[in-house]
This record gives sequence, structure tokens and C-alpha cells, in this order.
Amino acid sequence: MARWHRLVDEDGPVTTPDDAPPDQEVLRIDAGGWGWTWAADSDGRLHQVGLGLDGAGAAVEVDPVWYPHAHPAWGGPDPFRPPALRITHAEGTTTTRLRLDRVERQALGDDELVTVRTVDELLALRVAFRSRTHRYSGVLEQWIEIDHDEDGPVTLWDYDSIAPAFLVGPEAVVTQFGGAGWADEWAWTTERLTPGTKVLDSLGGIQPHLQRSPVLMLEPNGPAEEAAGDVIGCSIAWGGNTRFALDVRPRANDETRDLRLRAGANPLGAHYVLDPGTTFVTPTVAWTWSTGRGELSDRFHRWTRGRVLRDPDRTRPIVVNNWESTFFDFDEQRIVGLIDRAADVGADLFLLDDGWFGTSSPRDDDTAGLGDWDPDRRKLPEGLPALVDAAAGRGIRFGIWVEPEMVNPDSDLFRAHPDWVIRDRREPREHRNQLALDPLLEEVRDFEVSVVDRVLGGAPGTSYVKWDANRPVTDPGSSALAADRQSNAWVDWVHATWEVMQRIADGHPEVELMLCASGGGRTDHGTLRWFHEFWTSDNTDPVTRVRMQWACGHWFPASAMAAHVTQWGDRPLPFACAVALSGRFGFDLDLEALDDESLAVCRRAVAVARRTQDLVQHGRLVRLVSPVDGDDRGRAALGYTAPDRNRAVVFCFQLDEPSSDPPALVIPGLDPEVTYRIRATDLTSDPVDLGTFTGADLAAGALGWRPRGSTTASILELTTSV
Ligand code: GLA
Repeated sequence: MARWHRLVDEDGPVTTPDDAPPDQEVLRIDAGGWGWTWAADSDGRLHQVGLGLDGAGAAVEVDPVWYPHAHPAWGGPDPFRPPALRITHAEGTTTTRLRLDRVERQALGDDELVTVRTVDELLALRVAFRSRTHRYSGVLEQWIEIDHDEDGPVTLWDYDSIAPAFLVGPEAVVTQFGGAGWADEWAWTTERLTPGTKVLDSLGGIQPHLQRSPVLMLEPNGPAEEAAGDVIGCSIAWGGNTRFALDVRPRANDETRDLRLRAGANPLGAHYVLDPGTTFVTPTVAWTWSTGRGELSDRFHRWTRGRVLRDPDRTRPIVVNNWESTFFDFDEQRIVGLIDRAADVGADLFLLDDGWFGTSSPRDDDTAGLGDWDPDRRKLPEGLPALVDAAAGRGIRFGIWVEPEMVNPDSDLFRAHPDWVIRDRREPREHRNQLALDPLLEEVRDFEVSVVDRVLGGAPGTSYVKWDANRPVTDPGSSALAADRQSNAWVDWVHATWEVMQRIADGHPEVELMLCASGGGRTDHGTLRWFHEFWTSDNTDPVTRVRMQWACGHWFPASAMAAHVTQWGDRPLPFACAVALSGRFGFDLDLEALDDESLAVCRRAVAVARRTQDLVQHGRLVRLVSPVDGDDRGRAALGYTAPDRNRAVVFCFQLDEPSSDPPALVIPGLDPEVTYRIRATDLTSDPVDLGTFTGADLAAGALGWRPRGSTTASILELTTSV
């Protein structure tokens, strides 16, 4: 039985307590403002000896009698707890006991790659715990790698990427993000943690995040504020099924509770059979411990820009999409008409959505044509080049929709390759009349890459691609895997799909890529690495979008969050435009059908976009009035400030009829000494001058609440030019 000693104090590690084991090591991971400290006991077992905020870089101590195991495996000392790692070994042993082998630290500029190598004390299996810091943001990336030389395959049943332990107060809450599925992404749910294990997972394989985004906010001492309170934020960077598990236990004679958070790929139905000599790599989990929710977002935005998004500093185009205005029903003349109008209102790019392809099985609805990526000459007699030219002739760019991973049974592709689809031995079920191609087949991966190559090659000048995936996996199975490896498919599919995405991104470095899966079904920090942005949700009702974008904006900068003005919800156009302007702005409206007054609103919105999208996309987000928690959920306000604090834009939204007195608008984060001129518009008319205010005035609530009545908005532009 190990005996515990104080392993850290204010000056750092205490390495020589009198009776400390000689092989004791203290390993501190300095994640940038917070840290995680591990130590090995005399048996070589790894324990968490510190975790938390520290300002100066020393680990915060936990109760020494409680030093929990750093990454508990089945067969560890606590038989009452679910493990983070559970393996059946080749000769049948179901327990795993890891002991420290060595620690490797590799400097990466200001950052560090830390690898803690462990070996099973009995069996020839190794687990490496890997951490990559990003001190500029304060977000820590962690994953584990498992390999072995046992006499046959081992089976991994649980393989969480991280399993930190916390002491939490009785008021601890967890916030999850996700609702009823399609068109209900990013619904905000906060609940008190009570004893027991709470599992928050996602399924569906291809678009799991339609159900639940793979991010989680843990507030160990009760709901935090924007600028105060402990907040632990965690994102599973994985394009497949994910799982968070929060195992909460009471502590005797104490009102604190201990909590083990496990996060990683969802192993449900996905146990992994691992051959000797091969390595299993878990998803990366990115997480941070911050003071206040504002800092959580600052950190995730910096990290997403620094480590995830492509071309993070490039301001995204103003996109006009035709999906909501035409669906599958269009021809060249109609599209050229929309391109004309897109250029006329001042957009940068026209995006042609679904329905442009299919020859022997034309894509007139969602029952046919997927897989056959030649233009439908009935609709587009001169193919895509005529549209690229039409756009270029009007000074705007052209983009195209594809869904390379899917096939309709009514297609030439399926008739030629019925064996290319994901299926088990049963007849595969159609979903949206389509089947998913199996990316574990090399010829399928090559085909998917060739889809994009051919579409772009056939329409030179196309500079934007919307990549969709409109069904989940329902009949999991792969002809590429042996009968006893079928459950590996869930993990292998993600890696195979990422390989395809990487090949396409590498092959077309100048083309901007939007990630879409029936809306926000693929919004994870893993898949996003090959993309510039994602389609946040098919739900574009601006009232819902305010709440969705609010939640999503906790994790992703607005440059990634595509937001288009549509007619969903039948809301006033100025309000719909204002909501879209607070994300990556665009339209999905029938611009040809708008009357002059509506066109004037669109033009005004584009003018605001020209002045503010750089701030919205690259500035610092400041959340002012919450539509998802707090006393009055009928209002929302948020702003974006320039790094030098010389400019800002603030969006105020009135979602319902006011039920309480309007709040004063408190705008923190500006330079208190500086005088700002403020111009305001609700988009029904040009901006009006509100006069000048100092940053200190604005932080003290000098500005009143401007929106009046349900579904009105006010956009405030702050500049230092007087
Ligand atoms: C999905 C997308 C939509 C649109 C359609 C086309 O639902 O989320 O934006 O592209 O597919 O079929």
C-alpha cells in the first residue's frame, strides 16, 4: 500500500520527503495559467497530485490523502469506479496495471510535447500519455497511444483520452450543448451534478454532433460569470461518436464531492481489436481551466485560430447560397439571375447548392443522383463553367456543394459499385434515400478525392466548396475488415474520412472549404482542421440562431460560424440580417423576389458587414446579455472588440416582447480612457450618430437598451475617429 506525501508546495515539487520512494517523480504540465501535476508512487503507479489554476505556474494542491490515479485502468485499486482504460489482453487477462517507464519532454517553441510512457507490469502492453501545450491560448491537447507485443490481438473496451479528477462543491454544474437532433444543435442545458455517473454521448458515426456537440463546460463551484468563477472547458476533437462521463461521489463528512471526468471517443459498439505491433491513438481532447466563461472562450478562440482553422486570419467572403430559394428546382437562367442579384447587393461569392448534377439519374429531389458528379445538362446546358464565368463577369467568386461520401441507390455509381457502401450482412437501410460509402475501401477513398478534383477541375475558378454529409451510419459494417474486427470500423472510419479530407485540402490549398453535415453535424475541432468554417445549423430562424450562435461561440470564433439570412421563422428582415451579421455573414434568400425596400435592407446589411466583419471574425468576443441563462432570456447582446481596442461592434437583440425593464448596456473591455464615437442602426435606415462616450462610461452602463419590440435589433459601431 502506497503512503502519501506532500509532493508539491508553493515553491514547486518537494522531491525528498524523508520516506519518499527513491523512484518518485513529479511531472508538471504547465498548460498556460493552469496546470496538471502527476507523480509516480513507489510501485510506479501514476497519480494526480495537483490540478488547477495557478497564475504563477505552481500546481494547486489537492488533499494529499486523496491523490487519485491519473488514468485509472480496470483492475486498479478502486473496484468501485468505472475505469478510463479497459483492455482484454491476448491471453484473456481483463486487468491492466501500468507503471511508469519514462517521461520525455520535447520543447516546441514556447510549447511542449510531454510523453509519459508506461508499461503493464505483467504483459507486453504499453500506454503513452501525450500532452501538447499551447501556452498562448492556455488550451492543453491530450491523447493516449496504446501498443503491444502480446501473443495475439488485445481488445480495447474503454479508451478515454483524459480522466482528470476534481474536488467540486455541492453547487457544481455541467453544461452540455445539443438538443433534439436536426435543426436543434447547440441547445444549452445546464444542470446540477449529483452523485452517480452522468454520461453525455453522441452516436450516428457520420453526423453525431447533430445530437450533441462534443464540448462540455464544467463549473465546479456553481455557475460562473463572464469574468469570474472556475470554468473547465473540454472539447473532444473527434469526427465520430464521443462520450463524456462524469462520475460523482460524495465524500464522508464533507460537502465536497469528488468527480472524475472521462472524455474521448464513444466506445459503445466500438470496442477495438488491436494487433501486436500496431498503435491505437485516441482522439485528442483539448481542455482548459479558466476564470470566467469569457476567458474560456478567449482561450478556445485563440487555440481554434492557432491550431485548428485553415487560414484563420483571412476574412471570410459574404456568401449568397441558393438552397432555401430554389431547393432542387433551378436552371442556368435562374442561377445566373441570382448571381446577378448577389453581385448587386454586394456579396463576394455565390454558392450553388444541391441539385446541379446527375445525368441518367438526375438530382431533381433527394431520391436520385448522389454519386454521379457530372452537371445535369437539362438544368445547366453549359455546365458549371458558364456559372463560374457569370460570377467572374460580375466580379464575384463561385462555390459549389458536394456530398462525396454518399450515394443514392438510384445512381450510376451505385449500379456500378453496389459493394462500396457501409453495411453489415443485412440489407442496408436508406436514410434520406441514400447510403454512405465505406471509406475503409481504398477505391472509395480515391473516388471521394476524385469527386472534388473532377468538380473543381471541370469548373476552373471555383474557389469554395461546401462539403455535406446527410445521413448517419445505421448498419455498421465494412467489407474491408475481418469478421472479428467489425467494431473497429467506428474509429477507423473517422481516420479514413480525415485522410480523404486532408488529401482534398492539400490538393486545393486555395479553395475555401465549408464543413456541413445536415447542418452542424460535424462541428468538432478535429474535423475542422481541413476546413475554413462550418454550417452552424439548418435552423436559420434568427431567434433560435441567436441562442445557437451564443452557445457555439463559447467554443468557436465567429469566422467559423456560417450564418445566413433566410426566411425561417418569418421574422423581420432587418432582424434576420442583424443576427447573421454577428456570425460569418451571408444570405440564403431569393434575392430576385425581394422588393426594393427589402433589397435596401440587404444592401445596408452588406455595408455594415464591410465595416464590421473583420471585427466579428477576428476580434475579441464579449458577451453582454445572455439569451440562454440568467433572468431574462428574451434579450441578447454581444460585442467584438479590435485587439487594439480602437474599434468595436455590439449587437443587441430583442427576441420576445419585453417582459422586464430594459437593462443598461454594460460594455466592458474597452479602453476606459479612450473616447468612442457610436453609430447605431437597426437596418431599417442608415446608422445614426449617438455621440461620444469614454470606455469608462460604456463600462458603467451609459448606453441604454435600444431595440424596441419583439425581433428588433440594434447594431452599434464604435470607433475612435471623432
Ligand atoms: C443539408 C444541408 C443544407 C443543404 C441540403 C442540400 O441539409 O445542411 O444546407 O445543403 O443538405 O441537400
